[in-house]
Formats: sequence, C-alpha cells, structure tokens
Amino acid sequence: MHAIRIHAFGGPSELAWDDIPPPEPGEGDMVVRVRAASVNPVDYKTRSGGYPAVKREQLPKVLGRDVAGVVERVGEAVTRFHTGDAVYAMLDREVGGYAEFVRIHEADAAKIPDGIDFVEAAAVPLAALTAWQGLFDHGHLKAGQKVLIHGGSGGVGHFAIQFAKNAGAWVATTVSDADAELVRKLGADKVIDYRNENFEDAVRDIDLVFDLIGGDIQDRSWTVLKRGGALISTLQKPDQDEAERRDVRATNYMAEPSGAQLAEIARLLETGKVTVVIDSVFPLQDVGKAHEHMENEHVHGKVVLQVATETAH
Ligand SMILES: NC(=O)c1ccc[n+]([C@@H]2O[C@H](COP(=O)([O-])OP(=O)(O)OC[C@H]3O[C@@H](n4cnc5c(N)ncnc54)[C@H](OP(=O)(O)O)[C@@H]3O)[C@@H](O)[C@H]2O)c1
Repeated sequence: MHAIRIHAFGGPSELAWDDIPPPEPGEGDMVVRVRAASVNPVDYKTRSGGYPAVKREQLPKVLGRDVAGVVERVGEAVTRFHTGDAVYAMLDREVGGYAEFVRIHEADAAKIPDGIDFVEAAAVPLAALTAWQGLFDHGHLKAGQKVLIHGGSGGVGHFAIQFAKNAGAWVATTVSDADAELVRKLGADKVIDYRNENFEDAVRDIDLVFDLIGGDIQDRSWTVLKRGGALISTLQKPDQDEAERRDVRATNYMAEPSGAQLAEIARLLETGKVTVVIDSVFPLQDVGKAHEHMENEHVHGKVVLQVATETAH
C-alpha cells in the first residue's frame, strides 16, 4: 500500500510517498481502508523533530493521527464493527493515518454519523477529543460557568466553542479579526481580537481558561481566573506555585483516543448541534503543501488529506 513516511526529521520535503506492506489486524483490531485523514499540529511537529514522544530510532514512521474510512477486515475479538462499516478514529502513536490502510483498536473507533462525509469525519477525532477531554474530563466545565478559550478558530478551538456552548457555558474566545464572524456563528458569546485587544481587559471571573496557545498567553491568564477556577492547557504545564497562590487548579494533558467519546460526539454532529469547519482539502500526494499551509498560514478549522476520491458513505 502507499503511505506517507518520514525517514529523517526536517521540512516538508522529508514526507516520502512509500510503498509498504498493509497492516494485519490483531485480535481486537480492525484494518480500515482510509478515505480521508486530517492534519494536526502534532504531525508537523513530529516531522520536524519537535515532538518529544517520537525519537529518531522510531523512524521511518507513517505520520497522521486521524482517519475516516471503511472497515476492510476485523480481528476475532471485534464485536461492534463489521466489514463495510464507515468508521472514524484517533489513532494510537504506533500507527499512522497518512496511508491507504490502517490498523485501529476496536475501542478507539466509532461509526461515522449519517450526513457526515469522510472528509468531515476525518477532521473530527484528535481535535474534537482534545476539546472534549480538556473541557470536561480535565476542566470539569458545567452549565452556567464561564470559559475563556484561547485560539478559538483552530482545529481544537472551534470544537471547544461548540461543546462548551452545548453544555450550557458562557463562552469567550480569542481569535484574529478575520475569524470573529466564524466563531460568533459557532456560538461564542464574547469574541476578543487578540491582535488588537488585551483579553485581561475584556473578561474576568472566569471558571475555566482553556489554553491552546501556551507561552505568554498562558502566563497572562491567571488574572482573569476566579479563585477555585481551572487553567487547562494542551501545551506546557502551568506554574504550580502561581496556581496555589491563586487557588486555581492548573494542569496540562495529552489527548487520548476514545471510541466512546467519539460516539457521543457523533450524536452532536448528527443532530447538527456541532458542525465541522473545513479549512482546506489536499490530495494525499500533496501532503507537503498541506503541512506548509498549516504551519505558515492562517487556518480556520481543519486541514484534511483526501486519500481516496470517493467521499460519501
Ligand atoms: N496535548 C494534546 O494532546 C494536544 C492535542 C491537540 C492539539 N495540541 C496543541 O494545541 C495547539 C492547538 O491545536 P490546534 O489543532 O487547534 O491548532 P491549529 O488548528 O493550528 O489552530 C491554532 C489557532 O490558534 C490561533 N492563534 C495563534 N496565536 C494566537 C493567539 N495569540 N491568541 C489566540 N489565537 C491564536 C491561530 O489563529 P490565527 O491564524 O488567527 O493566529 C489558529 O487558528 C497546538 O499547539 C497543538 O500542538 C495539543
């Protein structure tokens, strides 16, 4: 099968179109024929050598953590899925989704809801699970609370706005001016143009800061939080001394695959309570252009790789 691998860390030219043997399913796994895969920042960070979990000794490696496709074969212990099912999943770190076939653990997959095509489905798993786990598993967000989402126009942020609104929270988000209208449509109550406004002047008494930017933005967030609030980051670990001084629970986390959570998210997609924003779609062969676009340009929502031409299911 064809797959996009890196043999060395570096720029987009390291993305090689390789011919490798297709995967075999283990007992509790399925082999899925991939129709679409999405690009996440972790992919270009891995490619460039900036993602510590992937070391040089693990190369060559197929990139990609998100897929949508059709079940081709199932292992003996698989009970919930059958050949021909349309499924989507966040993959574990051992396998890669920029490929014609991929092995998926049964527990990590969910059925793609009606009305959602493969491109849209592939855009969901890692970004939506990161938003879900950050807001609810780590942030313990409840109806009536106030959340500030830093970076609301990106892959994770656009899901986070919608999940938080759907849970009954009041949502503020920082974006650049070009994305203000988009995030208002997704349900943001307060939109802060981060290039021209200080968010510290725009909000206060926040129950949860969801930090998708890190660095200085994280450091400046303490002042908007109320005592007893939470600062949850997808990036660096917040300063624990500062957290204690301010009586704030503060942590970072890594998103994990979860078929059960993807099944809940599927219901929100199916009923139209959550929509997927697609920034752009590239054929798998143009993966280098997709990486360059995501790393260097302004992205709204998700960048997707089309692996097969058929996108409906
Ligand atoms: N720990 C985990 O498991 C995990 C999981 C997923 C993602 N992440 C990390 O979380 C971050 C976000 O991921 P993503 O997929 O949402 O990335 P993304 O799709 O690239 O989106 C990032 C967004 O941030 C915006 N932005 C940049 N600087 C900003 C600022 N100062 N204030 C507000 N918004 C700003 C960008 O908009 P403009 O173009 O307008 O600047 C862009 O829309 C990445 O660093 C990623 O590696 C971690």
